[in-house]
Amino acid sequence: MSDQKLVQITVNKEMDERIQGTPLQRKGDETKSKKFYIESYGCAMNFNDSEIVASVLDTMDYGNTQNIEEADLILVNTCSIREKAEKTIRKRLEFYNSLKKTNPNIKVGVLGCMAERLKSTLLEEEKIVDLMAGPDAYRDLPNLIAKAEGGDKSINVFLSRVETYDDIMPSRLDQNGISSFISIMRGCDNMCTFCVVPFTRGRERSREPYSILAEAEDLFQKGYREVTLLGQNVDSYKWTNPETGEHMTFAQLLVMVAKVHPDMRVRFSTSHPKDITDDVLFAIRDYENICNYIHLPLQAGSSRILELMNRTYDQEWYLNKVKRIYDIIPDCAISSDMMTGFCSETVEDHEETLKVMEIAQYSMSYMFAYSDRPGTPAHKKFEDDVPEKEKKRRLAEVIRLQNQISFAHNQRDIGKVFKVLIEGNSKRSDEDFKGKTSQNKVVNFAKKGDLKKGDYTFVKIISGTSASLRGEIVKQ
Ligand code: SAH
Ligand code: SF4
Ligand code: F3S
Repeated sequence: MSDQKLVQITVNKEMDERIQGTPLQRKGDETKSKKFYIESYGCAMNFNDSEIVASVLDTMDYGNTQNIEEADLILVNTCSIREKAEKTIRKRLEFYNSLKKTNPNIKVGVLGCMAERLKSTLLEEEKIVDLMAGPDAYRDLPNLIAKAEGGDKSINVFLSRVETYDDIMPSRLDQNGISSFISIMRGCDNMCTFCVVPFTRGRERSREPYSILAEAEDLFQKGYREVTLLGQNVDSYKWTNPETGEHMTFAQLLVMVAKVHPDMRVRFSTSHPKDITDDVLFAIRDYENICNYIHLPLQAGSSRILELMNRTYDQEWYLNKVKRIYDIIPDCAISSDMMTGFCSETVEDHEETLKVMEIAQYSMSYMFAYSDRPGTPAHKKFEDDVPEKEKKRRLAEVIRLQNQISFAHNQRDIGKVFKVLIEGNSKRSDEDFKGKTSQNKVVNFAKKGDLKKGDYTFVKIISGTSASLRGEIVKQ
């Protein structure tokens, strides 16, 4: 893999705030005769997939451009999770297609979950794209692109039971060089009734652990100091050694990655409450570099709604899990995903969500209004009967409460000292650094001495808003 290629990934932060950071890019490769532009939407796994795509494109005669007007190939890595996500992407595709008026040779390709969900419709009926590749078809891109260049429409949306891209070292596209993702599994077998992911990403499969380890070691050598292990449900990671028949669990994998180096922080996302084990909690407690932070999506507080969602836990079970986490790791921060207005949700059900939020004391949450997705079990079985306006009203209430809880959570940190990994300059001032605590909170503080990004320092918290902390260095 050459480091000289010019690749740029633009992340649309509106689609999922989980993908944070500035537009990402690598150094250019002017020796390539054609240019491609790539844009990523959706979750962190999709972003990591774009790095796999960039690695596959490294084998071709395409250099990247950040300037869409000089692109010969435009790739859009798409998300289907909510209707709004698809609408935004459609508008972008129409715009890309309009560029063909001035440059008829441009090819537009759709990658990812929308390609999988809509299959050939974008190609044949709407005729707004030239090629489509589903999440398991990126090895086939050189072939698909060659076909599109020859004037044929090309598509591969085959979902695999085994593809994990474990032999492809992703071509790193982040700009800070400190924090990166490693996908440890693909697909999802859970069938939450509202969710399109099992249909767009296929069956769950875990990646061979030694390729994960090699990737983590490579990142550490390159100067990275934080890896986030990714999967739709990381706690059900399971790999069986074909030679010995021995199993590796997620807790064992976590410890293996944590041992790469004590200065390499390890995070993971997402944990399904039903699958996170005590062994995972003990690993967090026992290894300083496994971060004290768990994203544990609740979705809804009412046990009746949870059952309709097929989340397989009820309110009581979820709250016991939260208690177990705080008992074993008292300074652990927990965050959540919440959805308002799922089919048949009453005001009383909604109040149960608010109640659980108060008890769980999330440090932060991602919050959404339910969006009916064609093809999902909820779409087939239930009526999407909560009016849009009411979904939004409940959502505003959930957001307001979370802001209060986050604010109080951050106020409780005042006076405490945290070990902070420096990620770079703060957004507001070059005189300040921005870093993160183990609990995944952003801290801004004045620079001191010869500290640089990628270093750790100890910071005492002096103030906090609902979104971030401010502190001062107490020790170097
Ligand atoms: N695998 C992860 C979630 C992936 S999707 C997990 O199980 O937690 C990220 C979040 O999007 C979900 O947690 C859910 O809150 C939200 N989401 C999924 N489908 C949705 C839908 N149809 N409407 C609104 N939000 C949805
Ligand atoms: Fe979707 Fe549920 Fe799988 Fe998460 S666990 S990806 S919400 S089906
Ligand atoms: Fe979206 Fe697909 Fe991720 S639907 S959230 S990009 S798995």
